[in-house]
Amino acid sequence: MERFIKTSLQNKVCIVTIDRKDALNAMNYEVLQELDLVLKALIKTKNIGAIIITGAGDKSFIAGADIKIMKKLDKKTAYEFSKLGQKVTNRIEQSIKPIIAAINGYAFGGGCEISLACHLRFASENATFSQPEVKLGLIPGWGGTQRLPKIVGIARATEMILLGNIINSEKALNIGLVNAVFPKKTLMNNVMNIVDKILLNGPSAVAGSFESIKNSFKLSINDGLKFEAECFSERFLKEEAKEGMDAFINKRPPKF
Ligand code: CAA
Repeated sequence: MERFIKTSLQNKVCIVTIDRKDALNAMNYEVLQELDLVLKALIKTKNIGAIIITGAGDKSFIAGADIKIMKKLDKKTAYEFSKLGQKVTNRIEQSIKPIIAAINGYAFGGGCEISLACHLRFASENATFSQPEVKLGLIPGWGGTQRLPKIVGIARATEMILLGNIINSEKALNIGLVNAVFPKKTLMNNVMNIVDKILLNGPSAVAGSFESIKNSFKLSINDGLKFEAECFSERFLKEEAKEGMDAFINKRPPKF
């Protein structure tokens, strides 16, 4: 039974809520470990098509790593803490199922980094983003220096990380940090609608597209294109592609 992670299933979508409201959902060891175990199990669960990560309450997504815990770390334990956060962010990024961040408030430090590992990010109007580690004499430790430049470009990432400033949801949208911004009250409904639309498409085509996109970070352009061609041609072995193309030609909706 998890103390800090709540899950709720709506059809094929699981909403995972980080629930440590008294610390604005800041993540200590227990929160990180629970999140890792919950995600590991959900990714393996057959009838789950996508996962949404959000924060409990109406103020905060995740206010970062727990600073009160970090204050007690030394070089060795800080390295382990960084590796634990990176284990979770890697698990999110490498998931074969889409994991989407519904950012409903503060996404600071490790909270911003959890969102960076997600495959899509949607924010409420009140959401704010920051990598404020330099203000604590630290640097981002759960992937921020590596993922933020890939998402918003090196100049904007460097600015955010070196200044440790706070940006609002409008700026986050302008720099490509989030995919869209919605009013606070409708954030989850809007995210659900988007996820439902993804899940209406050919499941194997969604999985193949997703794997191929993720390879753009890992492989050289030539290897990535080779993978794409293999993956594209494999669709032609599947009923799913026959059905999709047949439905188009016969002017009817596909049945996947
Ligand atoms: N760690 C531990 N506790 C935290 C926390 C954090 N990251 N963020 C908030 N809290 C706690 C506060 O200590 C406070 O607890 P008490 O009532 O026991 O004092 C409670 O949450 C409410 O916080 P505030 O009173 O500060 O709420 P606010 O609305 O006035 O301010 C905030 C909100 C701007 C997010 C502010 O709390 C804040 O700046 N928090 C720290 C954010 C931060 O620096 N995060 C990055 C951490 S470093 C990191 O994450 C490293 C990494 O890469 C892994």
